Amino acid sequence: MMARVSQEIIERVRDASDILDVVSKYVDLKKRGQNYFGLCPFHNEKTPSFSVAPAKEIFHCFGCGTGGSTIDFIMEYEKIGFVEAVQRLGEQYGIEVQLTQAKGGKELFSNLYELHEMAMTLYHKNLFSEKGKSVLSYLSDRGLEKEILEQFKIGLAHETWNELLTLAKKKKMSNETLEKTGLFLNTEKGTFDRFRNRIMFPIFNTAGRVIAFGGRALDPEDPAKYLNSPETPLYRKRDIFYGLHSARQPIREHGYAIFVEGYMDFLQLFQAGIQNVIALSGTALTERHALQIRKFTHRVVLAYDGDSAGIDASVRAGYLLLRFGIEPGIVQIPDGMDPDDWVRKSGADELKEAVDKAVPVLSFHIQTKDAKSLPSVQRSEFIKDVVSQISGVSDGIIRDDLLKSLAQEMRVEESDLLKNMNSQKQRNLKEPIPASSRESNEIPLTSKVQKAQVILVKILAGEDLDARQTVREMIHLELFLEPVLKKLAKMIIPIYDEIDYPAIVGQFDSDAERKLVTNILMGGIDESNLTSLVQDCIRTLKAHPIKENIREIRIRIRELEEAGEDPTEAIIEVAKLQEELKSISI
Ligand code: GTP
Ligand code: MN
Repeated sequence: MMARVSQEIIERVRDASDILDVVSKYVDLKKRGQNYFGLCPFHNEKTPSFSVAPAKEIFHCFGCGTGGSTIDFIMEYEKIGFVEAVQRLGEQYGIEVQLTQAKGGKELFSNLYELHEMAMTLYHKNLFSEKGKSVLSYLSDRGLEKEILEQFKIGLAHETWNELLTLAKKKKMSNETLEKTGLFLNTEKGTFDRFRNRIMFPIFNTAGRVIAFGGRALDPEDPAKYLNSPETPLYRKRDIFYGLHSARQPIREHGYAIFVEGYMDFLQLFQAGIQNVIALSGTALTERHALQIRKFTHRVVLAYDGDSAGIDASVRAGYLLLRFGIEPGIVQIPDGMDPDDWVRKSGADELKEAVDKAVPVLSFHIQTKDAKSLPSVQRSEFIKDVVSQISGVSDGIIRDDLLKSLAQEMRVEESDLLKNMNSQKQRNLKEPIPASSRESNEIPLTSKVQKAQVILVKILAGEDLDARQTVREMIHLELFLEPVLKKLAKMIIPIYDEIDYPAIVGQFDSDAERKLVTNILMGGIDESNLTSLVQDCIRTLKAHPIKENIREIRIRIRELEEAGEDPTEAIIEVAKLQEELKSISI
């Protein structure tokens, strides 16, 4: 069981801690208006967009979106869990934080770390022992020197069933710990070491602790060339990069990161002095990865394997990065090679040159699909597909640039692409965002209808009690179509006095939701012309379903006309709806 802290203690810690006090220990803050601003500690920036609202006890970065309460700040900054963050703050403010499970998760976590550390030491020692000689020479034949093997604690799991198990038992590790590390297999016949006869790559978290392993089979006949640790309490695959711990500083210095697919690619490049590199270890790039890397840089060069799978994967990863405002370039590795092979064959300089000349994802996509000379139907499909990728890009400037290049390269009118994009967007808007994508994606609320909802919730959540009352009287909950906004509105409408902002933030679990919510709670509405602003928003929201309705009927009219049937009734319906639009009362 995980350790827990009671709600009561959480609240006491929240009450006692002062966000300005806590954050200013880490960030240099300057007052501007009601709030304080500084350089964001969670992403790289030159002008301050990180802000703290002392009155509301929350923070939010208008650059990268990170936000939350004091506890969230400590968790994010120190890269620690919720309970640990509450404990730290408790210590600081003299509040005793007791865990509800006396033998709680803290012990489990430290045991899991310890066992991984133990395994790493064992495997590493094996590699440099007598029995490891042939493996060591295999690695040295592949160009890896002793230093790099030392630095990344590369190791060897012998071909035995219980080498690690015996050691763990000797150290009196509990069964629960053994089970949860993922380093063992539990079968009917008993418990065995998961990794056998493999070269071992320890996987470190950003704090530099080993949390998992990847193992490469030594036997070429082995059905799984690579085997990785399963998901464990320590290891969440969705947002771990291999090598980030060592590469973070070089990435910041170079201003960009190079992504490769494999462990061997990573080690070869790192050894050759290209150290702003990280490996995806064979997993597809996720949104969590994008958010994670964005804390370090806004530019990525993808150097995936030079086969068709690598090409497809890099195009997909490229568009995903774009959506998150990261600028991707793609290096095509020569046919059939991977970056490891290429560096060994041609030297690091050739790769470096290629990295400098990395191609933007859009051009790369067009090139590799030979899209310019496709027959017209496929060509149009291709363009639609790319437009839909582009429409997901939340940064308007990047989006416009992409559309412009697409128009130029494919020799089509930019205005046609824009039309196509807007009609695709309309379609997407009608579908509610599925819960799963809401989990990890950012929630860009950019359409007029969405913006109107945001403004209303901002006022409802503001500090001006009169304004809150005005809006409260004019709206009803059904106007909020976006699930997150509706949930937020529902929580704050019944509050007639001061809002407990951190408590509200605490009701939203996913990162994406919290980003949106803290952004809204920071406020920032120009209240000079409040009544007409509110009226505009409400009119927009009330008009929206009617307009949608009209749009649909218009389509029906066209269909009826094409089929040679009488559209009169539908035309009358449209006229009625248009009257209704005009007479919307607020
Ligand atoms: P070498 O063949 O030793 O050069 O390794 P490589 O890194 O070039 O391997 P490859 O290009 O085949 O795969 C790239 C990465 O994908 C590896 O480093 C692994 O992280 C991952 N991978 C490859 N094969 C498997 C597999 O069978 N299972 C799992 N889980 N991951 C794999
Ligand atoms: Mn390889």
